[in-house]
Amino acid sequence: KNKKRQHLLEILKESARFFHYQLRQEQHKSALTYLTDRGLSLETIKQFGLGYASPQFNELYEYLKQKGYSDELLLESGLFLSSKNSQMPYDRFADRIIFPIFDLSKKVIAFGGRVLDGSLPKYLNSPENLLFNKSRVLYGLHLAKTSSSSYFILVEGYMDVIAMHQAGFNQTIASLGTAFTPGHAKLIKRHVKEVVILYDSDGAGQKAALRAIPILRNEGIKVKVLQLKEGKDPDEFLKTHGYEAMKKLIEEAPVDIWFQVLHVEKKYQLSNPEEKVKFLQEIATILAESSSSIEQAIYIGEICSKYQIDEAAFKAEMNQHQGQIL
Ligand code: UTP
Ligand code: MN
Ligand code: MN
Ligand code: MN
Ligand code: MN
Repeated sequence: KNKKRQHLLEILKESARFFHYQLRQEQHKSALTYLTDRGLSLETIKQFGLGYASPQFNELYEYLKQKGYSDELLLESGLFLSSKNSQMPYDRFADRIIFPIFDLSKKVIAFGGRVLDGSLPKYLNSPENLLFNKSRVLYGLHLAKTSSSSYFILVEGYMDVIAMHQAGFNQTIASLGTAFTPGHAKLIKRHVKEVVILYDSDGAGQKAALRAIPILRNEGIKVKVLQLKEGKDPDEFLKTHGYEAMKKLIEEAPVDIWFQVLHVEKKYQLSNPEEKVKFLQEIATILAESSSSIEQAIYIGEICSKYQIDEAAFKAEMNQHQGQIL
Protein backbone atom coordinates (compact mmCIF):
# COMPACT_ATOMS: atom_id res chain seq x y z
CA LYS A 1 0.00 0.00 0.00
CA ASN A 2 2.89 2.31 0.81
CA LYS A 3 4.51 1.46 -2.49
CA LYS A 4 1.29 2.25 -4.31
CA ARG A 5 1.12 5.58 -2.54
CA GLN A 6 4.67 6.30 -3.62
CA HIS A 7 3.85 5.45 -7.23
CA LEU A 8 0.71 7.59 -7.23
CA LEU A 9 2.72 10.52 -5.89
CA GLU A 10 5.26 10.03 -8.68
CA ILE A 11 2.52 9.95 -11.30
CA LEU A 12 0.97 13.15 -10.03
CA LYS A 13 4.32 14.88 -9.86
CA GLU A 14 5.16 13.83 -13.44
CA SER A 15 1.73 14.99 -14.56
CA ALA A 16 2.01 18.36 -12.84
CA ARG A 17 5.33 18.91 -14.62
CA PHE A 18 3.83 17.80 -17.91
CA PHE A 19 0.88 20.21 -17.54
CA HIS A 20 3.14 23.08 -16.52
CA TYR A 21 5.37 22.43 -19.52
CA GLN A 22 2.35 22.33 -21.84
CA LEU A 23 1.25 25.73 -20.59
CA ARG A 24 4.53 27.19 -21.84
CA GLN A 25 4.23 25.68 -25.32
CA GLU A 26 3.65 28.11 -28.17
CA GLN A 27 0.70 26.14 -29.56
CA HIS A 28 -1.09 26.46 -26.23
CA LYS A 29 -0.56 30.19 -25.99
CA SER A 30 -4.28 30.83 -25.45
CA ALA A 31 -4.09 28.98 -22.12
CA LEU A 32 -1.23 31.13 -20.86
CA THR A 33 -2.97 34.22 -22.18
CA TYR A 34 -6.09 33.22 -20.28
CA LEU A 35 -4.13 33.32 -17.02
CA THR A 36 -2.19 36.49 -17.74
CA ASP A 37 -5.40 38.20 -18.88
CA ARG A 38 -6.80 37.33 -15.48
CA GLY A 39 -3.93 39.24 -13.95
CA LEU A 40 -1.58 36.44 -12.92
CA SER A 41 2.15 37.05 -13.26
CA LEU A 42 4.51 34.39 -14.56
CA GLU A 43 6.00 34.24 -11.09
CA THR A 44 2.59 33.44 -9.58
CA ILE A 45 1.88 30.85 -12.26
CA LYS A 46 5.16 29.19 -11.34
CA GLN A 47 4.61 29.49 -7.57
CA PHE A 48 1.29 27.64 -7.83
CA GLY A 49 2.57 25.26 -10.50
CA LEU A 50 -0.32 26.07 -12.83
CA GLY A 51 -0.57 24.14 -16.05
CA TYR A 52 -2.65 23.23 -19.05
CA ALA A 53 -4.00 19.87 -20.17
CA SER A 54 -4.07 19.82 -23.94
CA PRO A 55 -7.27 18.93 -25.78
CA GLN A 56 -5.58 15.88 -27.24
CA PHE A 57 -7.31 13.31 -25.12
CA ASN A 58 -4.54 10.76 -24.57
CA GLU A 59 -1.32 12.75 -24.64
CA LEU A 60 -0.69 12.47 -20.92
CA TYR A 61 -1.70 8.81 -20.88
CA GLU A 62 0.84 7.96 -23.53
CA TYR A 63 3.51 9.99 -21.81
CA LEU A 64 3.03 8.17 -18.52
CA LYS A 65 2.56 4.80 -20.16
CA GLN A 66 5.91 5.20 -21.82
CA LYS A 67 7.40 5.79 -18.36
CA GLY A 68 6.19 2.32 -17.44
CA TYR A 69 3.17 2.85 -15.19
CA SER A 70 0.42 0.24 -15.30
CA ASP A 71 -3.13 0.98 -16.42
CA GLU A 72 -4.37 0.07 -12.97
CA LEU A 73 -2.19 2.69 -11.30
CA LEU A 74 -2.96 5.29 -13.94
CA LEU A 75 -6.68 4.82 -13.47
CA GLU A 76 -6.29 5.06 -9.73
CA SER A 77 -4.45 8.36 -10.07
CA GLY A 78 -7.74 10.05 -10.94
CA LEU A 79 -6.23 11.67 -14.01
CA PHE A 80 -8.01 9.45 -16.48
CA LEU A 81 -11.41 8.20 -17.38
CA SER A 82 -11.99 4.97 -19.19
CA SER A 83 -14.89 4.59 -21.53
CA LYS A 84 -16.30 1.56 -23.25
CA ASN A 85 -16.14 3.13 -26.71
CA SER A 86 -12.56 4.36 -26.46
CA GLN A 87 -9.74 1.86 -26.35
CA MET A 88 -7.56 3.94 -24.11
CA PRO A 89 -8.14 5.82 -20.91
CA TYR A 90 -8.48 9.53 -21.72
CA ASP A 91 -7.56 12.69 -19.86
CA ARG A 92 -10.17 13.76 -17.34
CA PHE A 93 -8.84 17.31 -17.48
CA ALA A 94 -8.42 17.68 -21.25
CA ASP A 95 -8.46 21.29 -22.42
CA ARG A 96 -8.50 22.76 -18.92
CA ILE A 97 -6.26 25.05 -16.92
CA ILE A 98 -4.67 22.90 -14.23
CA PHE A 99 -4.39 23.80 -10.56
CA PRO A 100 -2.22 21.27 -8.71
CA ILE A 101 -3.36 20.68 -5.14
CA PHE A 102 -0.49 20.25 -2.68
CA ASP A 103 -0.26 18.61 0.71
CA LEU A 104 1.64 20.19 3.61
CA SER A 105 4.96 18.78 2.41
CA LYS A 106 4.32 20.32 -1.02
CA LYS A 107 3.60 17.06 -2.75
CA VAL A 108 0.97 17.11 -5.50
CA ILE A 109 -1.98 15.00 -4.31
CA ALA A 110 -4.74 16.05 -6.73
CA PHE A 111 -5.73 18.53 -9.42
CA GLY A 112 -8.42 21.04 -10.15
CA GLY A 113 -9.16 21.95 -13.75
CA ARG A 114 -10.96 24.99 -15.13
CA VAL A 115 -12.43 25.44 -18.60
CA LEU A 116 -11.13 28.35 -20.65
CA ASP A 117 -14.57 29.40 -21.81
CA GLY A 118 -18.08 29.42 -20.40
CA SER A 119 -18.73 25.68 -20.69
CA LEU A 120 -19.81 23.52 -17.79
CA PRO A 121 -18.80 22.22 -15.36
CA LYS A 122 -16.55 25.21 -14.80
CA TYR A 123 -14.24 23.32 -12.44
CA LEU A 124 -13.42 19.65 -12.08
CA ASN A 125 -11.48 18.11 -9.21
CA SER A 126 -9.66 14.80 -8.98
CA PRO A 127 -11.82 12.13 -7.37
CA GLU A 128 -10.88 11.08 -3.85
CA ASN A 129 -8.35 8.29 -3.56
CA LEU A 130 -5.49 7.01 -1.43
CA LEU A 131 -3.84 10.44 -1.59
CA PHE A 132 -6.74 12.85 -1.75
CA ASN A 133 -9.39 13.37 0.91
CA LYS A 134 -11.23 16.63 0.21
CA SER A 135 -12.24 17.25 3.77
CA ARG A 136 -8.61 17.15 4.88
CA VAL A 137 -7.16 19.45 2.25
CA LEU A 138 -7.08 23.22 2.14
CA TYR A 139 -5.84 24.81 -1.04
CA GLY A 140 -2.95 27.17 -0.34
CA LEU A 141 -2.20 25.79 3.12
CA HIS A 142 1.29 24.64 2.09
CA LEU A 143 2.11 28.34 1.59
CA ALA A 144 -0.13 29.89 4.27
CA LYS A 145 1.43 27.74 6.99
CA THR A 146 4.68 29.70 6.65
CA SER A 147 2.92 33.07 6.79
CA SER A 148 3.70 35.20 9.82
CA SER A 149 0.05 36.24 10.09
CA SER A 150 -1.81 35.31 13.28
CA TYR A 151 -4.94 34.55 11.28
CA PHE A 152 -5.91 32.81 8.03
CA ILE A 153 -8.20 34.23 5.38
CA LEU A 154 -10.68 31.63 4.15
CA VAL A 155 -11.93 32.10 0.57
CA GLU A 156 -14.03 29.98 -1.81
CA GLY A 157 -11.94 29.20 -4.83
CA TYR A 158 -8.63 28.56 -6.53
CA MET A 159 -8.48 31.92 -8.24
CA ASP A 160 -9.30 33.73 -5.01
CA VAL A 161 -6.42 32.05 -3.18
CA ILE A 162 -4.01 32.78 -6.00
CA ALA A 163 -5.07 36.41 -6.46
CA MET A 164 -4.89 37.01 -2.70
CA HIS A 165 -1.38 35.51 -2.46
CA GLN A 166 -0.22 37.50 -5.46
CA ALA A 167 -1.53 40.69 -3.86
CA GLY A 168 0.41 39.90 -0.67
CA PHE A 169 -2.14 38.09 1.49
CA ASN A 170 -0.07 34.93 1.82
CA GLN A 171 -2.24 33.66 4.68
CA THR A 172 -5.14 32.79 2.34
CA ILE A 173 -6.62 29.29 1.99
CA ALA A 174 -9.75 27.69 0.48
CA SER A 175 -11.81 24.58 1.00
CA LEU A 176 -12.30 23.43 -2.54
CA GLY A 177 -15.88 23.69 -3.67
CA THR A 178 -16.82 21.27 -0.94
CA ALA A 179 -18.49 22.32 2.25
CA PHE A 180 -16.21 23.42 5.06
CA THR A 181 -15.81 20.51 7.48
CA PRO A 182 -14.68 19.96 11.09
CA GLY A 183 -11.61 18.29 9.56
CA HIS A 184 -10.73 21.58 7.87
CA ALA A 185 -11.18 23.47 11.14
CA LYS A 186 -8.89 21.03 12.96
CA LEU A 187 -6.27 21.48 10.27
CA ILE A 188 -6.43 25.27 10.59
CA LYS A 189 -6.22 25.13 14.37
CA ARG A 190 -2.75 23.63 14.17
CA HIS A 191 -1.54 26.87 12.64
CA VAL A 192 -3.70 29.80 13.78
CA LYS A 193 -6.42 30.65 16.29
CA GLU A 194 -8.31 33.10 14.13
CA VAL A 195 -9.96 33.00 10.70
CA VAL A 196 -11.42 35.75 8.56
CA ILE A 197 -14.08 34.27 6.28
CA LEU A 198 -14.06 36.01 2.91
CA TYR A 199 -16.50 34.14 0.71
CA ASP A 200 -18.22 35.33 -2.46
CA SER A 201 -20.72 38.12 -1.87
CA ASP A 202 -23.63 36.16 -3.39
CA GLY A 203 -26.30 34.28 -1.45
CA ALA A 204 -24.41 31.00 -1.73
CA GLY A 205 -21.31 32.58 -0.22
CA GLN A 206 -23.30 34.02 2.68
CA LYS A 207 -24.97 30.70 3.38
CA ALA A 208 -21.64 28.93 3.31
CA ALA A 209 -20.24 31.48 5.78
CA LEU A 210 -23.17 30.91 8.16
CA ARG A 211 -22.46 27.17 8.04
CA ALA A 212 -18.70 27.53 8.53
CA ILE A 213 -18.99 29.82 11.58
CA PRO A 214 -20.12 27.21 14.16
CA ILE A 215 -17.68 24.62 12.76
CA LEU A 216 -14.74 26.96 13.32
CA ARG A 217 -16.03 28.18 16.65
CA ASN A 218 -16.43 24.61 17.87
CA GLU A 219 -12.67 24.22 17.49
CA GLY A 220 -12.11 27.32 19.58
CA ILE A 221 -11.15 29.41 16.58
CA LYS A 222 -12.08 33.08 16.65
CA VAL A 223 -14.05 34.02 13.55
CA LYS A 224 -14.58 37.24 11.67
CA VAL A 225 -16.62 37.58 8.51
CA LEU A 226 -15.89 40.00 5.73
CA GLN A 227 -18.70 40.48 3.26
CA LEU A 228 -17.73 42.23 0.07
CA LYS A 229 -20.21 44.70 -1.28
CA GLU A 230 -18.44 45.56 -4.49
CA GLY A 231 -16.99 42.85 -6.70
CA LYS A 232 -18.39 39.42 -6.33
CA ASP A 233 -15.34 37.62 -4.99
CA PRO A 234 -11.90 38.51 -3.59
CA ASP A 235 -10.21 38.00 -6.95
CA GLU A 236 -12.52 40.52 -8.62
CA PHE A 237 -12.40 42.91 -5.69
CA LEU A 238 -8.61 43.04 -5.79
CA LYS A 239 -8.66 43.75 -9.50
CA THR A 240 -10.81 46.84 -9.12
CA HIS A 241 -9.91 48.08 -5.63
CA GLY A 242 -6.46 46.71 -4.89
CA TYR A 243 -4.45 45.67 -1.86
CA GLU A 244 -4.95 48.66 0.44
CA ALA A 245 -8.74 48.62 0.12
CA MET A 246 -8.78 44.90 0.86
CA LYS A 247 -6.43 45.28 3.80
CA LYS A 248 -8.65 47.94 5.34
CA LEU A 249 -11.75 45.75 4.98
CA ILE A 250 -9.97 42.77 6.54
CA GLU A 251 -8.81 44.86 9.49
CA GLU A 252 -12.34 46.14 10.01
CA ALA A 253 -14.08 42.78 9.51
CA PRO A 254 -16.82 42.29 12.10
CA VAL A 255 -16.79 39.32 14.47
CA ASP A 256 -18.96 36.36 13.49
CA ILE A 257 -21.73 37.26 15.95
CA TRP A 258 -22.34 40.55 14.17
CA PHE A 259 -22.45 38.84 10.79
CA GLN A 260 -25.08 36.47 12.19
CA VAL A 261 -27.08 39.24 13.84
CA LEU A 262 -27.12 41.36 10.70
CA HIS A 263 -28.19 38.33 8.70
CA VAL A 264 -31.09 37.65 11.09
CA GLU A 265 -32.02 41.32 11.13
CA LYS A 266 -32.81 41.19 7.40
CA LYS A 267 -35.61 38.71 8.07
CA TYR A 268 -37.60 41.02 10.33
CA GLN A 269 -39.37 44.37 10.25
CA LEU A 270 -37.98 45.80 13.46
CA SER A 271 -40.48 48.65 13.52
CA ASN A 272 -43.15 46.03 14.19
CA PRO A 273 -43.06 45.11 17.94
CA GLU A 274 -44.05 41.48 17.40
CA GLU A 275 -41.35 40.99 14.79
CA LYS A 276 -38.84 42.69 17.04
CA VAL A 277 -39.62 40.16 19.77
CA LYS A 278 -39.02 37.30 17.33
CA PHE A 279 -35.78 38.91 16.22
CA LEU A 280 -34.71 39.28 19.83
CA GLN A 281 -35.49 35.63 20.53
CA GLU A 282 -33.50 34.48 17.54
CA ILE A 283 -30.38 36.46 18.38
CA ALA A 284 -30.67 35.44 22.04
CA THR A 285 -30.42 31.85 20.81
CA ILE A 286 -27.37 32.62 18.70
CA LEU A 287 -25.64 34.37 21.58
CA ALA A 288 -26.52 31.63 24.05
CA GLU A 289 -24.88 29.12 21.71
CA SER A 290 -21.64 31.07 21.39
CA SER A 291 -19.29 29.51 23.87
CA SER A 292 -17.60 32.13 26.00
CA SER A 293 -19.52 34.06 28.63
CA ILE A 294 -17.06 36.95 28.39
CA GLU A 295 -17.92 37.31 24.71
CA GLN A 296 -21.58 37.12 25.58
CA ALA A 297 -21.26 39.92 28.10
CA ILE A 298 -19.66 42.17 25.49
CA TYR A 299 -22.14 41.46 22.72
CA ILE A 300 -25.22 41.68 24.92
CA GLY A 301 -24.26 45.25 25.69
CA GLU A 302 -23.54 46.12 22.06
CA ILE A 303 -26.67 44.46 20.71
CA CYS A 304 -29.01 45.92 23.31
CA SER A 305 -27.67 49.38 22.72
CA LYS A 306 -27.87 49.09 18.93
CA TYR A 307 -31.44 47.75 18.91
CA GLN A 308 -32.62 49.62 22.02
CA ILE A 309 -33.48 46.51 23.96
CA ASP A 310 -33.69 46.33 27.74
CA GLU A 311 -30.63 44.32 28.88
CA ALA A 312 -32.40 42.57 31.73
CA ALA A 313 -35.19 41.40 29.43
CA PHE A 314 -32.68 40.21 26.87
CA LYS A 315 -30.66 38.28 29.45
CA ALA A 316 -33.84 36.61 30.69
CA GLU A 317 -34.58 35.55 27.12
CA MET A 318 -31.04 34.22 26.73
CA ASN A 319 -31.23 32.20 29.93
CA GLN A 320 -34.09 30.25 28.42
CA HIS A 321 -31.75 29.09 25.66
CA GLN A 322 -28.62 28.62 27.71
CA GLY A 323 -27.60 25.02 27.98
CA GLN A 324 -30.35 23.98 25.64
CA ILE A 325 -29.11 21.09 23.55
CA LEU A 326 -31.63 21.11 20.74
P1 UTP B 1 -16.84 29.94 -8.12
O1 UTP B 1 -17.86 29.64 -9.15
O2 UTP B 1 -17.08 31.10 -7.23
O3 UTP B 1 -15.49 30.01 -8.88
O4 UTP B 1 -16.60 28.64 -7.29
P2 UTP B 1 -14.33 31.07 -8.91
O5 UTP B 1 -13.19 30.53 -8.12
O6 UTP B 1 -14.80 32.44 -8.63
O7 UTP B 1 -13.97 30.84 -10.42
P3 UTP B 1 -13.52 31.82 -11.53
O8 UTP B 1 -13.13 33.09 -10.88
O9 UTP B 1 -14.71 31.96 -12.44
O10 UTP B 1 -12.40 31.08 -12.16
C1 UTP B 1 -15.74 28.63 -6.17
C2 UTP B 1 -15.01 27.32 -6.09
O11 UTP B 1 -15.94 26.24 -6.08
C3 UTP B 1 -15.41 25.13 -6.77
C4 UTP B 1 -14.02 25.52 -7.21
O12 UTP B 1 -13.10 25.10 -6.21
C5 UTP B 1 -14.10 27.03 -7.27
O13 UTP B 1 -12.83 27.65 -7.18
N1 UTP B 1 -16.22 24.76 -7.94
C6 UTP B 1 -16.93 25.71 -8.63
C7 UTP B 1 -16.25 23.46 -8.36
O14 UTP B 1 -15.62 22.59 -7.74
N2 UTP B 1 -16.98 23.13 -9.49
C8 UTP B 1 -17.65 24.07 -10.20
O15 UTP B 1 -18.27 23.73 -11.25
C9 UTP B 1 -17.63 25.39 -9.76
MN1 MN C 1 -0.40 19.35 -27.79
MN1 MN D 1 -19.57 31.38 -6.14
MN1 MN E 1 -13.91 34.24 -9.32
MN1 MN F 1 -16.15 33.06 -7.02
